[in-house]
Amino acid sequence: MKALVLEGINQEFIYKNVENPVLETGEALVKVKAASFNRRDFWIKKGQYAGLKFPIILGSDGAGIVSEVKDETDKYWIGKEVIINPSLLWGDHEEFQSKAFNILGLPKDGTFAEYVKVPVSSLFEKPQHLSFSEAAAIPLAGLTAYRALFSKAKLKKGDNVLIVGAGAGTSTFAILWAVAAGANVYVTSGNADKIEAAKRLGAIDGVNYKEDDWDQQLLQKVSGFDVIIDSALGAGFAKHFNYVNPGARIVFFGGTAGNLPELNGRIIFWKQLQILGSTMGSPQDFKAMLSFIEDHKIHPIIDSAYKLEDANDAIKLMENSDQFGKIVLDVTE
Ligand SMILES: NC(=O)c1ccc[n+]([C@@H]2O[C@H](COP(=O)([O-])OP(=O)(O)OC[C@H]3O[C@@H](n4cnc5c(N)ncnc54)[C@H](OP(=O)(O)O)[C@@H]3O)[C@@H](O)[C@H]2O)c1
Repeated sequence: MKALVLEGINQEFIYKNVENPVLETGEALVKVKAASFNRRDFWIKKGQYAGLKFPIILGSDGAGIVSEVKDETDKYWIGKEVIINPSLLWGDHEEFQSKAFNILGLPKDGTFAEYVKVPVSSLFEKPQHLSFSEAAAIPLAGLTAYRALFSKAKLKKGDNVLIVGAGAGTSTFAILWAVAAGANVYVTSGNADKIEAAKRLGAIDGVNYKEDDWDQQLLQKVSGFDVIIDSALGAGFAKHFNYVNPGARIVFFGGTAGNLPELNGRIIFWKQLQILGSTMGSPQDFKAMLSFIEDHKIHPIIDSAYKLEDANDAIKLMENSDQFGKIVLDVTE
């Protein structure tokens, strides 16, 4: 099969023939129709990710058609159009992942190939209103945003929500999910065009976090926030205490702009705040996200699409974070 192989840190992807994956019990072979990039692929390519190994086929996100299963009992899946849950071996606890948890596309070969093998338990039927490219845009970032908003922050209709860094892949999904859930969504971004793009998705308004008084600007637009999704962290995180409502839930799953700054603990206990860490999501979260997408007939935002063999051009877009929405790879027509 053709695959994009990464042979070392800061190398270009090599588009070449490799052996087809060999199935083990409980596994399925998916003919990949489309895949998409995550920031994770970018960091791995730069060597800034734990557990690197080479050569590796990257790609956590993918959708396609099941072409083979190892076990007779899984025959139902053959020929089915699927979206793959990249959260592997989550384990038995809804609250946290198991020690064996890993993400498709390192250490196991991922979706940037004509075929990928995955556990049958990672297969979910593709929502019918989505194309393969749209389905492939969703898994990792969509799941992370879904768990953060619903399983962690318990988002309700009418909540005021702030999504920090609207341009982040996860943020685009957080905006889509929160708008569909009937929340009042506001964003921050370092880029005025991305604030406008967020408004086109249904956000009410936004402010530029590069302006010193962005917290005061927010306070002129809304009295306070019930939910904040902020995976940038850094100094800006402390400003949230200027506009949180009592009982607010602040969720984070990354630290794009640094670590947690010094926080005023008195505000945390007096306002009964919850500051919650989150990571990807469980199979139950993934299933719930797909039902939510079906119910609201949501389409993800795709910034651009490239052929698999043009992946070296595609990943360059991530250097400056200029994109709004996902970068998709069309693998097989
Ligand atoms: N734990 C998990 O399961 C998990 C899963 C997915 C992602 N993550 C982490 O979550 C973070 C977001 O990931 P991603 O792939 O969605 O996004 P990403 O593309 O890495 O995010 C880049 C965006 O971060 C925003 N940003 C940068 N500096 C900022 C600052 N000082 N204040 C506010 N926003 C700032 C920018 O938004 P604007 O362009 O709008 O300015 C930029 O476009 C990353 O740290 C990633 O590693 C964790």
